[in-house]
Amino acid sequence: MNDLPIGICDSGIGGLTVAKEIIRSLPNENIIYLGDTARVPYGVRNRETITKFAFELVRFLIGKNVKAIVVACNTISATCLPELQKLSSVPVIGVIKPTVNKVVNNLKTKNIGIIGTRATINSNSYELEIKKLDGKTVVFSQSCPLLVPLAEEGFISHPATKIIVQEYLQYFQDKKIDTLILGCTHYPILKNIIQDVVGQDVKIIDPAIPTTKQLINLLKEKNVLGNSKNPTRHFYFTDITPQTEKTVNIFFDGKFPGKLEKILF
Ligand code: DGL
Repeated sequence: MNDLPIGICDSGIGGLTVAKEIIRSLPNENIIYLGDTARVPYGVRNRETITKFAFELVRFLIGKNVKAIVVACNTISATCLPELQKLSSVPVIGVIKPTVNKVVNNLKTKNIGIIGTRATINSNSYELEIKKLDGKTVVFSQSCPLLVPLAEEGFISHPATKIIVQEYLQYFQDKKIDTLILGCTHYPILKNIIQDVVGQDVKIIDPAIPTTKQLINLLKEKNVLGNSKNPTRHFYFTDITPQTEKTVNIFFDGKFPGKLEKILF
């Protein structure tokens, strides 16, 4: 059981920010990543479509005999995590709950900003989870759909990215937020520009870190931490182009720890 792989899925490439943190923190785990690059972005689609696609991703990972599944996508986590948990006999964790637990446990936090895809922001999932833990926290949300293609293009410190980030984050200007949750797995790639625009006093939260901590706790609890000397890391994508190769390297700081494998549903 311990050497069974951890399954990670995302609508495309963004979930690699979570995969990177999992590999960094759990170097002896076998990993299977699945990114639905043929159908990304999910964040502009409706609930039924996102749920249908997400079921296919999770079924694929279950078929690979994984010991746990990380839904490394805010959009899927916000839309249908409970349904995915019912579908799977192995534990499925999303990115929203671990992130909210981390933020709300930080007593300094009073005004929280959240940025994400339209589907994530319209679902209100972050706000609902936050209010469950602390009804007094004030939440301000803003969707930033253009940040996904900018991250994938590697426009990490590009002036165009700065202008678009300024345009979206202008909404927070008079809100006095002390914390900003990057509620989309692509956004950590643009963290420096986002921090610059929002100001150094605002604490930026990357869900990859609390999600990985929750995964570690889960594996410890179930006594299934892996100990592979030469861990295997498979990265499956539903579409691969020459650009995919470039983009995965952007997400792994130029050191993508595997090769791209094409799968068809
Ligand atoms: N990775 C997705 C997320 O975290 C964003 C990309 C998409 O729209 O599919 O929400």
